[in-house]
Amino acid sequence: MNQEQTLFISDQLPLVTSPAILKKAVIYKLDSYISGGGELAFPCLPGMLEHYINIVESLFSHLGRPMPKERQLQLRQMIERKLAEGFNISTSSILVIQYELVKPPKKGMACQVTVRSPTLEEQYKSWVEKRKPPLFGSHPDARVLATVAEFRKNTSLKILDVGGGTGRNALPLARKGHSVDVLELTPAFIEQLQTAIATENLSMNVVKGDILDPLTRMQPAFYQLSIATEVVSHFRDVEQLRLFLAKMSDFICPGGMLLFNIFLTVDGYVPDELVREMAQLSWSSLFTAKEFATAMHGLPLAIVSNELVIEYERQHLPQTAWPPTSWFESWATGRDIFPLANARPPVELRWILCRRM
Ligand SMILES: C[S@@+](CC[C@H](N)C(=O)[O-])C[C@H]1O[C@@H](n2cnc3c(N)ncnc32)[C@H](O)[C@@H]1O
Repeated sequence: MNQEQTLFISDQLPLVTSPAILKKAVIYKLDSYISGGGELAFPCLPGMLEHYINIVESLFSHLGRPMPKERQLQLRQMIERKLAEGFNISTSSILVIQYELVKPPKKGMACQVTVRSPTLEEQYKSWVEKRKPPLFGSHPDARVLATVAEFRKNTSLKILDVGGGTGRNALPLARKGHSVDVLELTPAFIEQLQTAIATENLSMNVVKGDILDPLTRMQPAFYQLSIATEVVSHFRDVEQLRLFLAKMSDFICPGGMLLFNIFLTVDGYVPDELVREMAQLSWSSLFTAKEFATAMHGLPLAIVSNELVIEYERQHLPQTAWPPTSWFESWATGRDIFPLANARPPVELRWILCRRM
């Protein structure tokens, strides 16, 4: 008992002996000894606002701290704003809600809402640290090798590999005697490439850069072949797709080829905003045929072929190299967005081969 409490003890106050009232008093006091809290982490998808709010409200209610109406509104506005902010910065942003029971005489839950936005480079760095190599497969893409084979035999080609990663395609091509430049964003992959180049004395050049940065430029009309495999799936909108295609048109010499893969929706299906957000989160950005046509419009690129990646690679890769990775089939069939077990998602990863006119 402290001094302050002593002041309240007075013969003037009514005596209470009711067990029910005394129990209430004990529980009230006990609440000040109860502590607890935690952290909820949600991908920053603005379209999931309602779902996230429901989770938070029912969690707080379960913990005996339902939110009053005005607090609900404040929290909703805060979450809505942070989701939009986070999604704009990166498709991998995480909204973190830290909560803690407050002690009596205060009531309710103290909350802090923050956003963590790892960059793409940081995420791929953690792949290098945590995953077992080879990260993208042990064999080059069958479509890449077939495209190279379509050029005149025994010609050493000037090839640009945009987003070359760990060199799954670039290294075997350089070993065959082609002159390969890799434009890559992630320093952890660049280090691996530099080591391989130095060890094997390869004719290969690595440039650190973001293909979507207007200042990133390669030699104009220089390459006979440019490839971008599993890269366009990181782009966020038609403008980025068009910027990429325009730059490729610039770097490839007339008559040269461009090969890339892209997730296209099937005819008649137009994804809504939530699906598009989920697709970006899953590194499977979606484009409709109309959006693809808009991105290509007016560029000096003619489509030569358009094939389903999963079928092409399954048929043409050596059996020992199939599947390329544990995640490839799920990702390439759109099941990272729609995990349908007994049905086909309305999206397809396609190989697009273009000729620079
Ligand atoms: C899924 S990996 C594929 C790597 C390689 N192309 C392959 O197929 O094995 C995607 C690669 O693209 C790179 N990347 C993504 N966006 C990029 C950009 N805007 N500019 C340059 N590289 C990018 C990433 O750093 C990563 O290395």
